[in-house]
Amino acid sequence: MRNPNQSAASVSETYHQQYAKPEERLQIKQLVNPIAASDAHINAGNDVIQGLTQTPKSLPPHYFYDDRGSELFEQICDLPEYYPTRTEASILRQYAGEIAQITGACELVELGSGSSTKTRLLLDAYEAFDYPLSYLPIDVSAGILESSARQLLLDYPSLQVQGLVSTYEFALKQLIPPQLPTRMIFFLGSTLGNLNPQKCDVFFSQITAALKVGEYFLLGVDLQKSKQLLEAAYNDSQGVTAEFNLNILEHLNQRFNGNFDTQLFKHWAFYNEKLNQIEMHLRSLKTHQVRLEEIDLTVFFETDETIMTEISRKFDLDVIQQELQAKGLKPLKVWTDSKRWFGLLLCQLQPTTFASVAD
Ligand code: AVJ
Repeated sequence: MRNPNQSAASVSETYHQQYAKPEERLQIKQLVNPIAASDAHINAGNDVIQGLTQTPKSLPPHYFYDDRGSELFEQICDLPEYYPTRTEASILRQYAGEIAQITGACELVELGSGSSTKTRLLLDAYEAFDYPLSYLPIDVSAGILESSARQLLLDYPSLQVQGLVSTYEFALKQLIPPQLPTRMIFFLGSTLGNLNPQKCDVFFSQITAALKVGEYFLLGVDLQKSKQLLEAAYNDSQGVTAEFNLNILEHLNQRFNGNFDTQLFKHWAFYNEKLNQIEMHLRSLKTHQVRLEEIDLTVFFETDETIMTEISRKFDLDVIQQELQAKGLKPLKVWTDSKRWFGLLLCQLQPTTFASVAD
């Protein structure tokens, strides 16, 4: 085990550029237009065309997060029924110090950073060890990325921020080696739940490819629990989740010059117990057609036809640990809350062994 105080002092001398003005500590790069990116399937709305021309219809959940959608998601996080955010925050609050102690001085890379609220718990812990603070938030929403980065820079006078406006798949391929001794990629809030098992497998491979041996991956996952609790979390009494779901259509209208009428769709969310996932849909209230000019797409809807906008998988801690381990991402620590509603896993990339090459 390293001595945290000793390594902090030496690292700190090398890297701290204390009290530079906030704007001198900020760099934000837009990796192409993330949603019209030149990257294969996310090329100029191809993913929208693909999703809306297949049966059943679906949309990629990253389209939730225009500036309005990110704002609505922040409201969801504060809803009494939506337990994941505050449960994960309580785990982080309790164990952030231990995380910082294990990793030592560390570049912090956050996938889907949003408001960076939970990030503060980590920054506080690294700051308490007097480690240099280097943060790379990655988010598709430029607005929320920039405003939260600016606020962080005011609150943490030694913090360096290098933001990337991008989908995380794309950004993971662009990471340059860390300026600090190690790196931790973190993916909180159970956003992993948006990926079906096959995409999840690909995603873990992308994480493994982005990390060097010995570097860290911190993952927050929502755990399996009663249908009643889960369905309440996605059908809140104030209707914020419904508004969030419908906003995806407004975003498509804006981005692709479309004419979706949100009045003609209804929010529908339920727990699929067989697949252990919440499914969120928009159900068409009548037969009609919609036009998205920019991508030259006409879409026909039957009465009661649905667009699946999101899956939110609920995980089993043992299974997810095995999956991570199989990818060389060894869980060093697994934390949960007293009700076992949410899990936080700190993993470290292991060297490739003959055993794992062989199987
Ligand atoms: C941001 C994907 C973790 O799945 O719970 C919240 C999104 N959707 N309410 C989730 C969401 C509806 C959220 N994630």
